[in-house]
Amino acid sequence: MVILLAGAGGQLGRDLQPALAGTDLHPFDHRQLDITDAGAVEAAVERVRPDWVINAAAFNDVDGAEQAEDQAFAVNAAGAGNLAEAAARVGAAILHISTDYVFDGTKGSPYTEDDEPNPLSVYARSKYEGEQRVLGRAPPPAWSVPHGCMDGRARTSSRPSSPRRSGAGPSG
Ligand SMILES: NC(=O)c1ccc[n+]([C@@H]2O[C@H](COP(=O)([O-])OP(=O)(O)OC[C@H]3O[C@@H](n4cnc5c(N)ncnc54)[C@H](OP(=O)(O)O)[C@@H]3O)[C@@H](O)[C@H]2O)c1
Repeated sequence: MVILLAGAGGQLGRDLQPALAGTDLHPFDHRQLDITDAGAVEAAVERVRPDWVINAAAFNDVDGAEQAEDQAFAVNAAGAGNLAEAAARVGAAILHISTDYVFDGTKGSPYTEDDEPNPLSVYARSKYEGEQRVLGRAPPPAWSVPHGCMDGRARTSSRPSSPRRSGAGPSG
């Protein structure tokens, strides 16, 4: 199986690489592939011809996004869309990581994929739009995983350490 992994230098990207040993894995970190560059994304996907594209790239600074809306949307929404479109063009499936921040945290019990999103922050709205772009693209299928807080082996400094909202609401 041929896999193109975008955002390979991040926490999830680095943890996925050993987990995907045995596949024909093509990891691209931010320096090697900027997902906001639609032409570069298309060229990389055309070159690799993956069966799967995994999007582990993100503007992941939840608090910082409030002052960097354009950048958050460029990466989390347009960038995700670029990967989805390029993957669709070569018939690849795509796995995209979303966030439980797409929910507003008022439910009072754990969220499921069927719950109605209500993204409140800039980060949440940018991730929600990315999710929509990935899920709305042409087949083959796309998966968007609404992930909560991640605790992997790799650590990066790009994720803020400020407390997240308490209660049953979004955690990451
Ligand atoms: N960590 C959590 O608790 C958590 C919780 C829920 C959901 N998620 C989601 O899980 C996914 C992975 O998160 P993570 O924790 O692994 O984040 P991370 O450690 O911040 O990694 C994100 C990676 O994306 C790269 N990146 C940023 N802009 C890019 C661009 N334009 N093109 C290509 N790469 C770019 C970053 O590179 P630079 O650092 O060089 O910019 C970084 O290596 C994200 O979709 C995130 O929203 C994470």
